[in-house]
This record gives sequence, C-alpha cells and structure tokens, in this order.
Amino acid sequence: MKDLSLSPLIYEWAIEPLLRGIKRKVAQLVSRYDLSPVLDLCCGTGKQGHFINLAGNRICGLDRSFRMLSYARKKHPDVPFICADAACVPCRSGVFKGIILSYALHEKPEKIRHEILKECRRLLSPGGKIIFVDYENPWNRLSRFGGLLTWLIERTARGDHYKNSRQFLTKGGLRSFIRKHGLFEVKSYDLALGCSRLVVTQFSSDF
Ligand SMILES: C[S@@+](CC[C@H](N)C(=O)[O-])C[C@H]1O[C@@H](n2cnc3c(N)ncnc32)[C@H](O)[C@@H]1O
Repeated sequence: MKDLSLSPLIYEWAIEPLLRGIKRKVAQLVSRYDLSPVLDLCCGTGKQGHFINLAGNRICGLDRSFRMLSYARKKHPDVPFICADAACVPCRSGVFKGIILSYALHEKPEKIRHEILKECRRLLSPGGKIIFVDYENPWNRLSRFGGLLTWLIERTARGDHYKNSRQFLTKGGLRSFIRKHGLFEVKSYDLALGCSRLVVTQFSSDF
C-alpha cells in the first residue's frame, strides 16, 4: 500500500511543537494510572514513546509507515517500534495495560476505526485503559478558533485523510466515538486550541 503519511521531518518541525504539551501530559497519565506496558498505536515520529520511556515506563510504538518508523528508530533508539497495521497487531492478547490512540482515528475510514478499537480490546489486559487524543466539534469561542487552525492543517493532508476527518466530526467527533464503542470516560481534558480532547477511558464491561 502507498505510504501517504506526512514526511517525518515536516511532522517533527511543524506539528510536534504544537503537540509537545499534550504528549507530556499523556506520559504523566501513563504513570498516574499505572499503564505500563503501554502501546502507542499509529505512533508517527515516536516522540510520545520517548516521553513515556523517560518517565521509566515500558512503551512500544507501532506505525504502518516504514518511513516514519525509520525516523523514529533513529531519533529514539531506546524505544522499541513495530512496523504493522493498527488493525492487525502482531502481539499476544491481553499483554498491554494501556493503549494510546493520539490523532490516530479521525484520518481513517469508519470501518478501520472500528477494527482498530476491536484490536485494542483484544490487546488490553482486564481493566486496561485507552488514552485517546482527537478532534471534537467546537464547543466555545476558543475551540472555534482552534477548529479553524486544525481545519487548515487537515486541508493540506493527502489521500482521503481530509474527507475522513470531516466524516469523523460529522459523526460527533471523539466524544461520540467513545460512547458508541462502550467505553467509560475515567478522566478528560479539553484542548480548545486544538479543538480536541484528551480522554482516559476503560471498557464499561470491565467495571
Ligand atoms: C496524524 S499521525 C499521528 C501520529 C502520533 N500518534 C501523534 O499523535 O503525533 C497518524 C499516524 O498513523 C499512521 N497510520 C495510518 N494508518 C495506519 C494503520 N492502519 N496502522 C498503523 N499506523 C497507521 C501514519 O503513518 C501516521 O504516522
């Protein structure tokens, strides 16, 4: 399959600085909720794994893009990475206490999002948690401004990325996705400038 992901260098210089605070927060949450070992699905440049590794937790990054992972491996040699599809992860069931899906859903077709969630359920140990970061529909003035900024970023994406991200929002964004998949929100943070939310979740059936 053709690799339509952004160049890792462009991602590193243009997008990562905007996400640094969020990635540090996610690393703190991995410690707070004791989610090690944790899997970062669709890990991109591997920066999230770097912060989690620095905090002394066990992390594995996974991405389909060989180009992204070559970059990630060079930049973060201490972090293990797997090159695979997030909907078909070559790991045993129940081995992870946590899974991170950061800006990994909106760009994909609905069917693939659903398959990835099914795979998360298989990979998580009982009581395990998924940390999501992704787009919401604007809820106040600042998030409307954030929505405009993210719309401009999304507009530059290649392939079906933009179309899928619009569909994700039309379907109600991250809030609706979480509800639809039987997940319970343990803790959430609004990220108005990114018109996004960070949410720690658990499958309702695990309670
Ligand atoms: C928008 S980037 C997000 C990167 C990172 N999670 C972050 O928050 O910065 C999406 C990543 O998903 C990867 N990707 C897309 N489809 C995938 C799939 N089916 N399986 C695994 N990775 C995939 C892309 O290669 C890209 O690196």
